[in-house]
Order: sequence, then C-alpha cells, then structure tokens
Amino acid sequence: MKDLFTPYQLKGLSLKNRVVMPPMCQYSVFEKDGIATDWHYTHYVSRAIGGAGLIIIEMTDVEPDGRITDYDLGLWSDDQVPAIARIVEACHRYGAKVGIQIAHAGRKAEDADEPVAPSAIPFDERSKTPRALSAGEVQEMVNKFRQAVRRAVQAGVDAVELHGAHGYLIHQFHSPLTNKRTDDYGKELTKFGKEVIYAAKSEMPESMPLLMRISAAEYVEGGYGIKESIAFSKVYREAGVDLFHVSAGGEGPIAADGRPGTHAAYQVPLARAVRQALDVPVIAVGRLDEPALANSVIGNEDADLVAVGRGMLRNPYWTLEAAAALRKKIDLPKQYERGFPNFK
Ligand SMILES: Cc1cc2nc3c(=O)[nH]c(=O)nc-3n(C[C@H](O)[C@H](O)[C@H](O)COP(=O)(O)O)c2cc1C
Repeated sequence: MKDLFTPYQLKGLSLKNRVVMPPMCQYSVFEKDGIATDWHYTHYVSRAIGGAGLIIIEMTDVEPDGRITDYDLGLWSDDQVPAIARIVEACHRYGAKVGIQIAHAGRKAEDADEPVAPSAIPFDERSKTPRALSAGEVQEMVNKFRQAVRRAVQAGVDAVELHGAHGYLIHQFHSPLTNKRTDDYGKELTKFGKEVIYAAKSEMPESMPLLMRISAAEYVEGGYGIKESIAFSKVYREAGVDLFHVSAGGEGPIAADGRPGTHAAYQVPLARAVRQALDVPVIAVGRLDEPALANSVIGNEDADLVAVGRGMLRNPYWTLEAAAALRKKIDLPKQYERGFPNFK
C-alpha cells in the first residue's frame, strides 16, 4: 500500500516521499532584477531541511513584462542563473529535489506598461487592456520560454513545470474566453501551449520530467469545466507533458456560482478525474495540510503526489511533523532529532 512517505520515481526524478512544496510567489526580488535573493534561498532551503520531497520554485518569468509584479523571479537572462543554481544545490544537499515553474503572466502582468495577451481583453474593469500579440510575437514568446527552460536546466533543476493555470499566458491561449484570435493560434487553442511544450522538451534531458500546472475548471461565468480540461490536457500529454499539477480558477472575476468551494481537499476530484481519464501521474493540491488527509489522497490513488502550500508557509517542517503524526520513520536531520522524540 502506498502512502505519503513511499518513494516516487518519474523518469529520472527520484523523490524520497510524495510531499511537494507547490510554487508560491514571494514577491521578494527587491532590486526588481529578477534575481533570487537571500529570502528565496532561506525560504526554499528551509523546506528542504523540513523534509519535502519535491520543491517547485515559484512562478519564474520568461521576460520582464511577463512578471505579475516587478518583484518576481525571472530567467530571461543568464545573470539570473547562479542564484537559482545556489538554491538548487543547497536543496539537493538536504535531500530535496527541485522543480521550477516557468511562466508568463500575460494580461495579468500588473506592473507592465502594456501587458500582452492572445487577445485585447482585460482581466476585469480595473485592469489594463492588454495588447494582442502578433503571430510573429507569439513565436518569439515560444522562444523566450525555450531560453528560460534552458537556463533552468543549466541551474541544475530536476524538473520543469510550465504554468498553464490561474489565468496566465498559456491558460489565456487555451481558454475560449480569452483567446478570440482568428489566426492559427486561435483556430487551435492548444497550439501555443503545444509549441511551448515542444520547445521546453528540446532543452531538457530525456530523463527529466516536464510538469504542467493547469486550471482544471474555470470559476468565471461561462468558463470551461473538467470535460474540456481533460480534452486540452490530452493534447498536452501527447505533446510531451509527463505529469499534471491540477489546480483551478484564476482566469477572471469569479461567477456568483463559480467557486467550487474552499473546504479541505476541494480540488482532489479534479486531480483524480485527470489522472483516471488520461492515465497520467498528477499532483493534487488545495487544503491538504492535514497529514491524515494528505496520506489518504495517496492511499486512495486519487493522486501520485500531494502539494502543501499555505501549510508550508506556516510551517517549513510540515513534512517532518506529518511523518511524526503518521508514525512513519524517516531520516531526520540529526540536528533536529531531539525535537522528535517519538521517532526514536
Ligand atoms: C502566497 C502564495 C503565492 C502563490 N503563488 C503561486 C505561483 O507562483 N504559482 C502557482 O501556480 N500557484 C501559486 N499559488 C497557489 C499555490 O501553489 C497553491 O495551489 C494554493 O495555495 C492552494 O494550495 P494550499 O491550500 O495547500 O495552499 C500561490 C499561493 C500562495 C498562498
């Protein structure tokens, strides 16, 4: 029987347990140069010492105007590689594997003078109206993703996650509500996402898995649901995605009856549906910070991995405490053994 502490293997990625730290923007690049700071180093390395199997570094953007805010991480320049490499190397030393979420905020780039998007449709009435990318610019954008992935690989990451969720650029392309283009990128809504997947894969070693985060349901009026998200995920799977990280929402103002709930495990049915329909590994995420509940998601085979976001903001040692609560013997950092007398 599998549980939260059963090791996991996907291609060349070997995890010591099934606990994932999901990407969480820290808005802590105080110099606005996209380069990770001491905050990021301390933040990620603490969770590695805290026992997480896989740490996915926050949304890291492919160009300056692809950031939500100017305080976000970037990989549009080789100068940004060493600070990420330093984090990866330290996390490895403490037994965690590291992924990084590669992204472009599209129309949700709040600090961009003129955000770009598939079509000139604002997020809401308070947001800037984005400029629609030309077909040539879309191709350049694919290349920007390629270059950012190349730099991530150079920094030593173990996996790459494409941000196809939460209403950011890839999501904006595959959603019929934000992509009204009449060219090939509008006729085939998954064309941009597919090209980004091919470009990413071309820069990654064969053994390195490509993850993709998706919003498996939209919360806006008239948004797509699980049926449509299974259909576009199938296209992305065939293009080369090895694992889906299943989230939801983020694409616009929430419809009166749009939000599926904020109760424990609220997104697990979406993860399970994608996993079953496509026979593909998935990460479940969303209020899974009770250890027994997280463990049941693995035991019931709803998902292959479980991500704990806000729970790990509260407690970097979430994984160690979950092991203690579930009475699982794991290798503790020896400096902390006396904090966990029940392991002995
Ligand atoms: C502070 C914060 C920043 C976040 N930034 C990102 C991000 O960069 N990329 C992303 O895909 N999701 C982001 N999320 C969403 C989380 O990855 C996660 O899906 C969400 O918090 C639900 O999981 P939880 O209930 O375990 O916190 C963020 C969430 C928080 C709380």
